[in-house]
Amino acid sequence: MIITIDGPAGAGKSTASRRLAERLGFGVLDTGAMYRAVGLAAVRAHIDLDNAQGLETLLKTLHLETPADRVVLNGEDVTTAIRTAEASAASSVVAVMPVVRRRLVEWQRAAGQERNLVCEGRDQGTVVFPDAACKFFLVADPGERARRRQREMEVRGEFVDWKVLLQAIEERDRRDAARDLAPLVPAVDAVLLDTTRLTLDEVVAQMEAVVRQRL
Ligand code: DC
Repeated sequence: MIITIDGPAGAGKSTASRRLAERLGFGVLDTGAMYRAVGLAAVRAHIDLDNAQGLETLLKTLHLETPADRVVLNGEDVTTAIRTAEASAASSVVAVMPVVRRRLVEWQRAAGQERNLVCEGRDQGTVVFPDAACKFFLVADPGERARRRQREMEVRGEFVDWKVLLQAIEERDRRDAARDLAPLVPAVDAVLLDTTRLTLDEVVAQMEAVVRQRL
């Protein structure tokens, strides 16, 4: 069984999907981490991020694993490396490339064959798993999302101005929503949840209630 959680960066998808998965005994598929890993690999290989041919060749050499909350790229743990500003920006550029989306969608569907999953990303309910049992679309005010990202980074000892983060988030939103392929839109049958004024516990409780009702 597949549950999808889509929405923009900072809407609370990652933590909420992990908690929900724990409560239901499901695995988690963090598809943003997959795009980040491809972005990081492209930067490291000095491949232009819009070079379809180069990316296609690169993808053939990539082996991605996502064991419990970690991301392992060709045997190297890149969990932290994919969270830098550079990797974030690169991920949203490679994410518009059809060759990248095609390959990652294949990997995601294959993962969905193996076990019950909570899949989080931008296109999980619309493109990757249109028949998912339950779909959510999380949103939150950009200012609040920037604050959340700032707190996350502070925990890692990185101090970035809120306005800079807000700008980056708005820029990424524009790119994610404007692209032709798998743009960031809610599935028609997704449950919309605005998390701006909700605690994490409240978000998870609301989602769990919907899932249990559907089951
Ligand atoms: O959720 P995130 O911030 O880790 O995602 C990183 C980038 O990948 C983001 O710019 C959007 C893109 N992405 C996507 O296009 N499709 C997905 N299913 C997940 C992420």
